[in-house]
Amino acid sequence: MKRQLHLNLFIHGRGHHEASWRHPTSSPLSLTDIRYYQDLAKRAEAALFDSIFFADQLALGGDVTQAPRTWLEPITVLAALAVATNRVGLIATASTTYSEPFNLARQFASIDHISNGRAAWNIVTSWLATAAENFGTDGQVSHADRYARGEEFTAVVKELWDSWAADAVVDERASGLYAREERIRPINHRGDSYSVMGPLNMPRCPQGRPVLVQAGSSDTGRRFAARHADAVFTAHMAKGTAQEFYADLKKLAAEEGRNPAQVLILPGLSPMIGSTEAEAQRLTREINELTDPIVGRRRLSGRFGGHDFSQLPLDRPLVPADFPDPSTVEAARSRAEVILNLVRRDQPTLRQLLGYLAGARGHYVMAGTPEQVADLMEDWFNDRAADGFNIMPPVLPSQFDTFSNEVVPLLQRRGLFRTEYSGTTLREHYGLPYPPSVFDDSTRKFGLRDLAAGV
Ligand SMILES: Cc1cc2nc3c(=O)[nH]c(=O)nc-3n(C[C@H](O)[C@H](O)[C@H](O)COP(=O)(O)O)c2cc1C
Repeated sequence: MKRQLHLNLFIHGRGHHEASWRHPTSSPLSLTDIRYYQDLAKRAEAALFDSIFFADQLALGGDVTQAPRTWLEPITVLAALAVATNRVGLIATASTTYSEPFNLARQFASIDHISNGRAAWNIVTSWLATAAENFGTDGQVSHADRYARGEEFTAVVKELWDSWAADAVVDERASGLYAREERIRPINHRGDSYSVMGPLNMPRCPQGRPVLVQAGSSDTGRRFAARHADAVFTAHMAKGTAQEFYADLKKLAAEEGRNPAQVLILPGLSPMIGSTEAEAQRLTREINELTDPIVGRRRLSGRFGGHDFSQLPLDRPLVPADFPDPSTVEAARSRAEVILNLVRRDQPTLRQLLGYLAGARGHYVMAGTPEQVADLMEDWFNDRAADGFNIMPPVLPSQFDTFSNEVVPLLQRRGLFRTEYSGTTLREHYGLPYPPSVFDDSTRKFGLRDLAAGV
């Protein structure tokens, strides 16, 4: 079969455009109303999307007075969506810096059981500086330390998921045997940051391991993704940098001994779709008029680890010297690079830059007809800039409906996208193998009876 596109819907506020929450076609429901998310998940499933995704930050944004900075905790949301849908994959962000591997392994294994094999974890190390203040740490953990800890954290989580063989549970009433002791093992991990005995206190989940997603694009982030990720989210403002990222990550995955075809690369795409190009541009102008430069400056500052941009005039062309060196940024280093590349290439004014970032925070933004959107997707897909896309509608649900009603059929007609689901789990939608569940008994260090504990 022809190589197929993979599509993820990134659900964010009332849309990815900074002003979407004020737009008349965005949802009237509250952002804490679960029906809003259930409705979007059902729409994504009706459009045959592989998955939906929720990002997360662990601190309230400083611009909450002028921007909706509240959402529900994503893993909790997945549980509610798992019972409202049947096929679509469910991805939530969780942090390796501000959680414990045992809790997190349980939570995602539970979602995988509840959803019958549709769970995925977007592994983040949390770039937002203010998150540290909510977790009793003395300032932000450095970029390098966050990734080092993330590496150990992820290894522990995988071991916990593997601590039960698939055939460990017998559940035999007649004989009284519930589980086979020799098919469950402690992990006895003792490392620099974590000590975890294990095993997990729940049977192996339907996908063996939930799918792993990663979204760091710095050099360290890329190596991390090459080792662990089944799917990679990434932000690019041009096809050229997306191609460079694609080639590099596939090469790194091969160097890690992995099959590069099983590391899916999904750049963000935020299309404003109109029936004509003029209409798409009118919709963009209309929503841009609702933006607030104060919100934009604050967000830019957050991207550069809190750097103060308040003195920069709005209408003079920017130069790289207006920004701190990205290699000194302890926040999202790769996004700082994306922004600086744009400044080098186009020398926008601050007003223009903020307008561009208002669209989708540094992801690829376009305004066009359904054909133009499908053409771009096909072009990036064929030219190895993408294995699929992280679709980031500027306004929800209206622009997602336009995408599913107008763009999806074009992709299907071109033989690029499924016309029905063939699988039931996220692994099957993404074309990923199931991890083997066997383990070598000689590696057992403890028997379960040594760990006997009542509940
Ligand atoms: C589509 C996408 C979604 C992301 N979602 C989150 C998120 O929910 N929470 C977070 O802290 N970082 C998120 N990130 C940021 C990355 O996970 C990563 O932390 C950031 O890019 C810094 O790592 P880097 O310096 O290696 O790029 C996201 C990035 C992308 C491209």
